[in-house]
Amino acid sequence: MPRPFPHRHLLGIDPLSAEDILFLLDEAEPWIDFGRQARKEDRRLAGLTQFNLFFENSTRTLFSFEVAGKRLGAQVANFHPGGSSVRKGESLIDTALTLNAMRPDVMVVRHNESGAPQQVAEVAGCPVVNGGDGTNEHPTQALLDALTMRRRKGRIEGLTVAICGDIRHSRVAGSNRKLLPKLGAEVRLVGPPALLPDDAGGAATFTDLDEGIKDADVVMMLRIQRERMEESVSGTLADFHARYGLTYARLDRAAPDALVMHPGPMNRGVEIEGALADDPDRSAILDQVENGVAVRMAVLDVLTRARRE
Ligand code: CP
Repeated sequence: MPRPFPHRHLLGIDPLSAEDILFLLDEAEPWIDFGRQARKEDRRLAGLTQFNLFFENSTRTLFSFEVAGKRLGAQVANFHPGGSSVRKGESLIDTALTLNAMRPDVMVVRHNESGAPQQVAEVAGCPVVNGGDGTNEHPTQALLDALTMRRRKGRIEGLTVAICGDIRHSRVAGSNRKLLPKLGAEVRLVGPPALLPDDAGGAATFTDLDEGIKDADVVMMLRIQRERMEESVSGTLADFHARYGLTYARLDRAAPDALVMHPGPMNRGVEIEGALADDPDRSAILDQVENGVAVRMAVLDVLTRARRE
């Protein structure tokens, strides 16, 4: 008898207990080997309809949710706002009500406004998954990051994870800052003062990268989000790289076997040295992508169980 998952939606990390998170990670594990098979076919979501509502650009999250749904047998429909009546001024809620009337069984929502998936969930007749909202949260990214750490480091409890770069605008940091302490990891936030959050939520903050990554087990670099910046970081991107870019030389300050992560997309040569990002012995960036499909299969499976029973 599978453990019940006591949540209708996956909108953020706050409502999840450590047991809920570990349950989702355990559910995701088998889908990694499944994804390495030649035939990637499971029919447990056959007959169910999955809507992906991506109001903001995405490569990894959109495509992996689509692949995840199709590998589970769902009928997957992607809503493209650029070619929709959103362009005529139709509101988010009217769009959500309209699509909900087509009776989807699960919806995945990405939006540049924080709180948009929560608004959709209030009117939806099915589970809603947050695919990233504004500067708020990206819960499936944090789950796939945790799965990647667990697989590469053998544990999460007791790890020191330095999250570095543009923390203020990062929904990836927003979810990881909540999830990792629930599993017993210590989180440090590292970045220029203008890119650190007003409320660090108990995490230690550092404005010096060398100091912030010292002896860290995991160094998670974040993208400089020029599209979300209201204030400019002083200096050029080259200046930023000189002070806050992760290089092989800098990584020597972290633990000897420190793992490098990045949610993507990367600004090579800005927040991370390209050769380091491509080094499979030090970097887990492509593992994160692979594990993302597995996590999203687990999330789609678990959230639709009640509808399938
Ligand atoms: N990590 C992430 O959310 O990437 P995308 O914007 O490509 O989905």
